[in-house]
Amino acid sequence: MQDRFFTHAVSRSLIMVIAFAIGILPIAIGPLAEAQQLPHSHARPDQVKIKHLHLDAKVNFDTKRISGSATLTLFRADPQAKLQLDSDGLEIRSVKSENGQALTYNQPTARQGIGEGLAVDLPVVTKKPTKVIVEYSTTPTAAAVQWLSPEQTTDKKHPFLFTQSQAILARTWVPCQDTPGVRMTYSAKLLVPKDLLAVMSASNPQKKNDTGVYEFQMKQPIPSYLLALAVGDLKFVGVGNRSGVYAERSVLKKAAWELADTERMIEAAEKLYGPYRWDRYDVIFLPSSFPFGGMENPRLTFATPTILAGDRSLVALIAHELAHSWSGNLVTNATWNDFWLNEGFTVYFEQRIMEAVYGRRYSEMLAKLTLDGLQREVLQLKKRDTWLKLDLAGRNPDDGMTSIAYDKGYFFLRMLEEKVGREQWDAFLKHYFDKFAFQSMTTEGFLKHLKSNLTVDVDLDAWVYSAGLPDTMPVVKTEELEKVAAAAKAFTVGTKPSAIASDFNTADWTTHHWNHFLRTLKSPLSAEQMTALDTQFKFTESGNSEITHDWLLLVIAADYQPAMPKLKSFLTGQGRRKFLEPLYTKLVETESGKALAKEIYTIARPSYHSVSRDTIDEILKD
Ligand code: BES
Ligand code: ZN
Repeated sequence: MQDRFFTHAVSRSLIMVIAFAIGILPIAIGPLAEAQQLPHSHARPDQVKIKHLHLDAKVNFDTKRISGSATLTLFRADPQAKLQLDSDGLEIRSVKSENGQALTYNQPTARQGIGEGLAVDLPVVTKKPTKVIVEYSTTPTAAAVQWLSPEQTTDKKHPFLFTQSQAILARTWVPCQDTPGVRMTYSAKLLVPKDLLAVMSASNPQKKNDTGVYEFQMKQPIPSYLLALAVGDLKFVGVGNRSGVYAERSVLKKAAWELADTERMIEAAEKLYGPYRWDRYDVIFLPSSFPFGGMENPRLTFATPTILAGDRSLVALIAHELAHSWSGNLVTNATWNDFWLNEGFTVYFEQRIMEAVYGRRYSEMLAKLTLDGLQREVLQLKKRDTWLKLDLAGRNPDDGMTSIAYDKGYFFLRMLEEKVGREQWDAFLKHYFDKFAFQSMTTEGFLKHLKSNLTVDVDLDAWVYSAGLPDTMPVVKTEELEKVAAAAKAFTVGTKPSAIASDFNTADWTTHHWNHFLRTLKSPLSAEQMTALDTQFKFTESGNSEITHDWLLLVIAADYQPAMPKLKSFLTGQGRRKFLEPLYTKLVETESGKALAKEIYTIARPSYHSVSRDTIDEILKD
């Protein structure tokens, strides 16, 4: 293997010597060379771009490896340039050209947190496009992939595997240009154990066959972070004419019931911002270790079973992932610094879908919870990273996954809607999704498009580039939650907790009322107050994950012993980071809490996905 990195380094120092000799400060070379580098990728799409990926692989649960080949079809803007791929921990067996010729490659030392990469010398040919075949295997510790033993699944009979590629984990299971600015179509042929079904973010089978071989097509070009695979003992059931649910057997019925409004959501979305462009919209409910609420893998949203509340009260998450079919999957953030373009637009669109399907009174409750969460987060972040456009170079893109991108992003767009009026704003957004479909977008590109299409007399920079919440922040008014806040206040200041609690009229309270109630109480509550609430409302026994999470925060603060077994079972029974992180953080505030956290984590850690593990490791480190 020829070490091209070395040659590159030599020529670079040669240039530096010459530059120095002719009096240019050598220091100028560094930033100049790096200016071409993307913040979280080795790829150089200005030189070579992947247009299509074909994956031909075997999924082996015994060795915990996905092994096979990735055939990359390339467009070469610069015929001299090498192909710079991202890879993180992949075992490369060979790199060949289409006619079987071995290509030289090297794996430079890992740049901070972004993997070692794979630089391939391409044959000097004029014929375009070029195909490169990478034979490789993942390793058992690949960060994107979680291999679950039968005991770690819901039905406990068969093993399960799922991937999570966003933000920069696709490179841990597929060699690719792992930057959201590059789009490719893809196809795959996978061999999995015969008793399991494989599904991807592509055209999917609906039942098992007896060969264990499944083929997939994604004919619309997508960025690498939307590559996804799940393998398990999955069943399918339709819920609408272009939508359905995959889940393990015992979850299937409940899941299908919960998602009954999916088709209405798709219709509402299309009415707002144009046709759904991905043919089918299916949802897979993964085992409970899935580290996110949902992930917008195209054609197949990956979802946590913790939204299966039994009353359809947590389906805003489906509206959210569905909305990404426009904001994110169709018009994609160019880099992770522009993450708010994905998430802020999606929260906005999610809200509009919820309003269309369930009414304004309902969606304003969601908006209020969002606003409260945002205000809390802004206080917590102080002034750090509270602008929409981030600078995450040299940092983990996960750092940008705060409510700023989501909820400051949402309120920015809501503010624009309120300024120009809904009619104009909706026409603008529809046109935006149409014009930039299947392209990537930068923050600056969006602002330019905005300014040339709408007249808005507001300080846009205050939202996009400045700290905190601007004074053009929209106002959210919800009588529903005002009632709840009054109840919480009465309870907090009252002297007879059990009498007050039994007086509340909560018959028509939804999950959102309860969330608001629990978040508005002044923590820590006294033992008497905790007991009164639990006796009256049975929080410890709640089967609703959002209510359980909020209640357990109060439980930890008040050291309310009767709910400790529930705390333990909640932390070991599911791996959604949004629930784990606040609870572990709260626990480590005291010495005894920290000891308990460590005890629970020892049991729970092996069942968490790497995404959650990394976060909790950080919280519990000494
Ligand atoms: N795309 C995100 C999840 C994500 C973001 C994964 C960044 C990795 C890196 C997804 O659409 C999302 O936002 N999920 C939320 C739910 C939503 C209702 C706010 C979640 O998982 O909590
Ligand atoms: Zn999202």
